[in-house]
Amino acid sequence: MTEPRSWLFVPADSERKVMKALDSEADAIIFDLEDSVALGQKASAREVLQNLPKRSGGPEWWVRINPIGSEYHKDDLHLIAIADLHGIVLPKAESGADVTRLAHRTGNIPIHAIVTETAASLFGLLSYRDPKSPLAAMSWGAEDLSAALGAASKYDANGELSFTYRLARSLCLAGAAAAGVQPVDGVFADFKDSDGLRAEAEAAAREGFTGKLAIHPAQVPPINAAFTPARGDIRHAEEIVAAFEAHPDAGVLSVGGKMVDRPHLMQARRVLERARGD
Ligand code: COA
Ligand code: MG
Repeated sequence: MTEPRSWLFVPADSERKVMKALDSEADAIIFDLEDSVALGQKASAREVLQNLPKRSGGPEWWVRINPIGSEYHKDDLHLIAIADLHGIVLPKAESGADVTRLAHRTGNIPIHAIVTETAASLFGLLSYRDPKSPLAAMSWGAEDLSAALGAASKYDANGELSFTYRLARSLCLAGAAAAGVQPVDGVFADFKDSDGLRAEAEAAAREGFTGKLAIHPAQVPPINAAFTPARGDIRHAEEIVAAFEAHPDAGVLSVGGKMVDRPHLMQARRVLERARGD
């Protein structure tokens, strides 16, 4: 599978959680060296990663390093020598230039950038469109952004995410689509609220995100389910593709009593690709 549906964070200094994550159903694990690891634990967290057991299949392995410019960043980069590492998660990215800078130091290992965590980052979301870049995914985060903006809360009076963070989310989605990389929805922090998570993940999937960050193993199955095309959607997509194959010269057709044209065909093909796990 090229695009992980669930990306499970695990603090790399906790061997116990790391072992649990390796056993989870996540499509990708993000071993975290950044915000979930206390400053005094950075070195021992790196050591846990250096001693990961040999793998045979299972989830992709990604490491979230500390941001460019932080004093831990350089030492974190040594971890790319871990043989089974699939890629690097770069937090607090502000533009495509950050990805390029990192790629110069890391060769062409895939990069997943978290692209809405600083004030400046919101102005950089169109800058990730470099066809030579090893960028593979973009996700968004509200926690660091609200701290950077001096917000008392990221929620409005009705308990909904405030406009600024919804804007960040949409810019991430459009920026990732523009760059041709996977758009990944941010974390749902209330890990005991599985109904809330399911609703948020399903909404993200409807909007075009193809995966979501997770912070707890219990979040993985609902996320995987939300980003797996439903049987009805697959059938409908097959009907659309079949209709255009039967009428190769048609620009617009009627399928199931509704108009379908080129954008519907593209969408249908994407659903079928995801259903096949391409
Ligand atoms: N990965 C792997 N295992 C995890 C896990 C994770 N992200 N989160 C929890 N677990 C394990 C726990 O260790 C516990 O196992 P145990 O009973 O064998 O010790 C089990 O799952 C149940 O955990 P639970 O008691 O429900 O949660 P908790 O109070 O131990 O932990 C958090 C809650 C939020 C601290 C924890 O989920 C966590 O560390 N999440 C990741 C945070 C992170 O990486 N943030 C950075 C990105 S925003
Ligand atoms: Mg953070």
